[in-house]
Amino acid sequence: MNKTFMGRIASIGAVAALGLTVAGCQGGGEAELEDTPEAQAFLFRQAVMRVIAQKMVPLGGMARGEVPVDEELFTKSATDLETMAGMATEGFMPQGIPSGSRALPAIWENWSDFEQKAQDFQQAAQALADAAESGGFEAAKDLVQPVAQTCGGCHRTYREREE
Ligand code: HEC
Repeated sequence: MNKTFMGRIASIGAVAALGLTVAGCQGGGEAELEDTPEAQAFLFRQAVMRVIAQKMVPLGGMARGEVPVDEELFTKSATDLETMAGMATEGFMPQGIPSGSRALPAIWENWSDFEQKAQDFQQAAQALADAAESGGFEAAKDLVQPVAQTCGGCHRTYREREE
């Protein structure tokens, strides 16, 4: 059996699997959902928020003294977080609340305030990253909590509470 033949089998398999997935999603409406710009925006912001939350884990853990300090990980997490903070509002355009989204209509009703909350987050993340880069963990550890406060500062108003 030559490689091309194997490749062809693999791609036929992939197409078949895709067909199954799409078929399996119908009814739930998910396949259809992912094709809309609103759904794409939702998936984007969800991905950004999840990365942001993951980057906060080592920062918070070290700042609270729960995990041993790892200077390199701390600084990388802080600078990654700063980068992600710059993407915080991108996934909220166009306006839309597809099923599964906890975004509240208030976001688009008070867009400039929402942007302000995102800016508060960006500034806090930048201060943290700058301090980590210049002075390491000791210089930056007290700047983790102010960042965490900006998460709640936005979620309280603009994210639906979990049941
Ligand atoms: C400017 C507002 C804003 C800021 C700042 C913000 N978030 Fe969010 N976040 C939201 C909104 C709105 C949602 C809901 C999005 C949706 O479901 O469509 C959300 C959703 C999330 C989610 C759920 C993602 C999922 O799996 O659906 C996590 C986790 C999260 N944010 C973590 C954070 C953390 C951690 C911070 C701070 C380091 C933060 N967010 C800062 C507005 C914000």
